[in-house]
Amino acid sequence: MLQAIGSKKDLELLPFYDMISDLLENETVQNLKQFRHHVQTTRFQHSLNVAYYNYIFCKRFGWDARSAARAGMLHDLFFYNRKEYIRKSGEAFHNKRHPQMACSEASQLFTLSTREKDIILKHMWPMTPTRVPRYKESMVIVLTDKYCALLEVTIPLFRKIFRQRSAKSA
Ligand SMILES: [Fe+2]
Ligand SMILES: [Fe+2]
Repeated sequence: MLQAIGSKKDLELLPFYDMISDLLENETVQNLKQFRHHVQTTRFQHSLNVAYYNYIFCKRFGWDARSAARAGMLHDLFFYNRKEYIRKSGEAFHNKRHPQMACSEASQLFTLSTREKDIILKHMWPMTPTRVPRYKESMVIVLTDKYCALLEVTIPLFRKIFRQRSAKSA
């Protein structure tokens, strides 16, 4: 069953799934499962989380939920160990470079609209001050990316603390 963090819904039963199923099946996108992202999550799961919350948010406001979902799934399409890269090149360099890398990689695999490219390229704003979001959906990913990162870091941590406390009291 395919799920997003913080949600119990089976994503395969939602219209959301049909919007991104071709991306999920792609071998290069599948390779994101090999990379850790935000402590316990894979980069694939993080991308799926962002795609889902982009979809929910944009659907709620009647914006372009399809583009938001697709770009969300592709926004971190880069293939290196983030921590090692940051150690060598610096956080600022990684923040600046990876949206561009993800956009070029995704453009080679899929046909992207101008809006989808903007969502991918601007997702790190305001850490990339020259790349100001041009669309409402590009502003949404700035928020959902951070929201998902927060859930991905805190939920496993709270589960660990809860398990430790339960073990002590048993
Ligand atoms: Fe990113
Ligand atoms: Fe991200």
